[in-house]
Amino acid sequence: MPHDDTLLVCEDLHYAYLERFPALDGVSLTVRRGEKLALLGANGCGKSTLLKVLDGLIFPQRGTYHAFGAQVTEDTMEDEQMSTGFRSRVGFVFQNSDAQVFSPTVREEIAFGPLQMGMNREQAAQRVDDVLAMLGITELADRTPFQLSGGQKKKVAIASVLVTNPDVLLFDEPTAALDPRTQQWLMELIEQLADVGKTIVHATHDLDTLHRIADRCLVFGENHTIVAEATPTELLDRRDLLLEVNLIHEHTLLFPAARVPSVGG
Ligand SMILES: Nc1ncnc2c1ncn2[C@@H]1O[C@H](COP(=O)(O)OP(=O)(O)OP(=O)(O)O)[C@@H](O)[C@H]1O
Ligand SMILES: [Mg+2]
Repeated sequence: MPHDDTLLVCEDLHYAYLERFPALDGVSLTVRRGEKLALLGANGCGKSTLLKVLDGLIFPQRGTYHAFGAQVTEDTMEDEQMSTGFRSRVGFVFQNSDAQVFSPTVREEIAFGPLQMGMNREQAAQRVDDVLAMLGITELADRTPFQLSGGQKKKVAIASVLVTNPDVLLFDEPTAALDPRTQQWLMELIEQLADVGKTIVHATHDLDTLHRIADRCLVFGENHTIVAEATPTELLDRRDLLLEVNLIHEHTLLFPAARVPSVGG
């Protein structure tokens, strides 16, 4: 049996889109309660696909995925109790926010999850107000999500995930395409979520900020499988590996600052 702190277990996952385009080829990992896990690797190596499996959006063609002790399959997710329980415990902020926002207003967008989970309108509205205030986007409440800027959309997507207070948060390249202030804000948010005990799994290419939002890194090779596991500090010391998996190129300078845990952010 897995260790008590083990929340998610993937064993030998295989996934190919349209049965032709390989994305995961023998991926095994565990995610433990309260950890900050980073997924790294070159474009197309399978990070987003793995996150989709972890969120129960797609199902492996071979191999198994267990979450909170139950196997996640297309069949088990048809059970309403299983899928509602799973959905309330796992939240996913997509790489592309356009694929995530679909409601006529931001308020309705964020209320969607709580209403799905059976909250009444009044409770849901209160939750929405709270999370809008927490993320500092109250002024966007009545806007149309797809008309917002990229960073604003990302905040709305984050709000729509945080509003149901999931235990496990999956972020796909959360800081990509955000301005420096918003990036900083998001890193702080992720640190705060980790501090209150949330489990964070995120895909990233950003080696500079790794030590802040990861305590363990899994590195994908371009062969769609995990080729290394390391702490951020260990990983940054393995220049050959970083070159081989296309996370740096030969002219990349890894500044010492990237290796040293920041003092007070
Ligand atoms: N909808 C799709 N249809 C067909 N192939 C796909 C689809 N989505 C992804 N793939 C393929 O699956 C492989 C893994 O893609 P994935 O999006 O998981 O990579 P990634 O590691 O997230 O890359 P990036 O760093 O660019 O976000 C790639 O070869 C990609 O072309
Ligand atoms: Mg991706």
